[in-house]
Amino acid sequence: MLNLKPLTSRKFSLFDEATHDVLGKVDKALKAVIEKQSASVQLQEAMYYAALNGGKRFRPLLMMGSASLFDLSFETFLPIATAVELIHAYSLVHDDLPAMDNADTRRGKPSCWRQYSEATAILVGDGLLTLAFEVIASSSLNPTIALELVTKLAKASGPNGMVGGQMLDIAQDHHDDFSSITTLQRLKTGELIAFCCEAGAIMGEQDPFIRKQLKEVGYKIGLIYQMVDDLLDKKGEAHILGKPSQQDGDKITLVDKMGEDQTLQKIDDLKEEAFSILKPFGPKADMFKEIIKRSIERKF
Ligand code: IPE
Ligand code: IPE
Ligand code: MG
Ligand code: MG
Ligand code: MG
Repeated sequence: MLNLKPLTSRKFSLFDEATHDVLGKVDKALKAVIEKQSASVQLQEAMYYAALNGGKRFRPLLMMGSASLFDLSFETFLPIATAVELIHAYSLVHDDLPAMDNADTRRGKPSCWRQYSEATAILVGDGLLTLAFEVIASSSLNPTIALELVTKLAKASGPNGMVGGQMLDIAQDHHDDFSSITTLQRLKTGELIAFCCEAGAIMGEQDPFIRKQLKEVGYKIGLIYQMVDDLLDKKGEAHILGKPSQQDGDKITLVDKMGEDQTLQKIDDLKEEAFSILKPFGPKADMFKEIIKRSIERKF
């Protein structure tokens, strides 16, 4: 008799294999680039500590999802995925500093400034950020595409993107209405995530409409991701989160504005909106949709 396995089990195992592959490749690429930064062994060790310490690699996974819409292999995206993780790691190192969120732990270990020193953590952030752009600029990507990616990545991470959002976040007493918080979240978390989602369309040389659609999906995912993060900050346990919980006590988040039930509903609505934009891609969007679903179910 034929032994037909349910389709879903094959789908999930393909998903898990692909995830494993992305995580392994990104870690390897990060290791390789940091190994070359040996001018100060102390700085090198601290950069290694900050970048290779068990991040979920959510942004590279989104790139994989975006790449699969256009039948592109993740391999092509590796320099950009590496650059994005370098920028993300730098943002966390600086975010944890006493002058920012003053967090003692990150990814289940002492935060970079706790393990080394504040000055080292500042320099680690500077180093990782700078390195990100070297990685893309020195890759073998088509120069026109590389230039577009560098420009968009710089915008997404800079003063009109993540850095601007972080500033609004620490000056939050002026920004506690719904639309201001949404703008803040879009900047601090959404822009970098939207860049990752658009990256597939840029690499696949898609028309402006498709690029815009994917960026929109990214903004929705960004909002979902930060709302889940804020829910976890309220409800999660530090030993599972790998970082302190109840860190946002004095900040007003969307969860404070809407309450837990409405936040969960909003997350579900945003997911459905993202899925409906992805619908024309048919089964090619399965990977992307699975990544979105899992980011909602995450516990850390
Ligand atoms: C944490 O990001 C900061 C937010 C923008 C919510 P992640 O939850 O992606 O952190 P790592 O990389 O997995 O540690
Ligand atoms: C940080 O947001 C977003 C960044 C750009 C680093 P949070 O301050 O909420 O991130 P966690 O909770 O410390 O990871
Ligand atoms: Mg913060
Ligand atoms: Mg923080
Ligand atoms: Mg948080």
